Amino acid sequence: MGQRAVVVELCSVIAIILLMSEGAIVRRDASCLNIVTRAEWSAKPAKQRDNITSLPVPFVILHHTYIPKDCNSSEECKEAMRSMQHMHQDLRGWFDIGYNFCVGETGEVYEGRGWDIQGAHAPRYNNRSTGICFIGDFMNSLPTPEMMEAAKDLIKCGVNRGSIAEDYKLLGHRQVRNTLCPGDTFYENITTWPHWDPLQDVVPVPKQ
Ligand SMILES: *[C@@H]1O[C@H](CO)[C@@H](O)[C@H](O)[C@H]1NC(C)=O
Ligand SMILES: *[C@@H]1O[C@H](CO)[C@@H](O)[C@H](O)[C@H]1NC(C)=O
Ligand SMILES: *[C@@H]1O[C@H](CO)[C@@H](O)[C@H](O)[C@H]1NC(C)=O
Ligand SMILES: *[C@@H]1O[C@H](CO)[C@@H](O)[C@H](O)[C@H]1NC(C)=O
Repeated sequence: MGQRAVVVELCSVIAIILLMSEGAIVRRDASCLNIVTRAEWSAKPAKQRDNITSLPVPFVILHHTYIPKDCNSSEECKEAMRSMQHMHQDLRGWFDIGYNFCVGETGEVYEGRGWDIQGAHAPRYNNRSTGICFIGDFMNSLPTPEMMEAAKDLIKCGVNRGSIAEDYKLLGHRQVRNTLCPGDTFYENITTWPHWDPLQDVVPVPKQ
């Protein structure tokens, strides 16, 4: 092999390595954004964790929190996560914060129950959906573009890691429960998102 051939060969090896690492970077950026972990928001331990037994899940369900109101700094959002965990665990008696993930106004994603664990956010759908909450009240205003982008990236991440089905159906909470969640203005917007499905599956809740 002449010197030139060696150089060409080396170049193609380098090109392949570059391509591979670029692929890896693109994959990480496009799919698995930074998620603020439970430890980072000082979550209390879950009382119980039930794995979702049939993966990937066919549904993604979007919520707004209504209360707490929007948080627009990392500290405020971590506090919002703690207050929701307190409300869900201590006042409602659930195992943990109900949602799988939440998104704050700055576009940061917070780990709730996380991937592949049954949430408590949409009765009858908890074992076949990923529940994502948008922290705030979106009856009369939209979440920030950063929040919407973050949620879309999170969903891509879920598809790439095999937690969410590639042909998933995107729903607003009100499509499966008699509720105004995720807010009129936001709901209207998500009906234009890829994968939104017009399913209507609200069952009457018996009066107690
Ligand atoms: C839940 O899934 C995790 C991760 O796959 C596994 O380590 C754990 O044993 C599972 N728990 C149960 C109760 O099946
Ligand atoms: C955060 O929200 C408060 C109250 O709505 C507002 O006054 C403030 O400007 C916001 N800060 C940022 C960085 O958006
Ligand atoms: C989810 O739970 C319901 C009961 O609430 C059950 O009928 C259904 O088969 C479960 N689905 C999966 C995928 O485990
Ligand atoms: C949904 O929100 C996006 C981002 O703010 C905006 O570009 C789009 O026009 C909105 N669509 C509707 C139908 O409100």
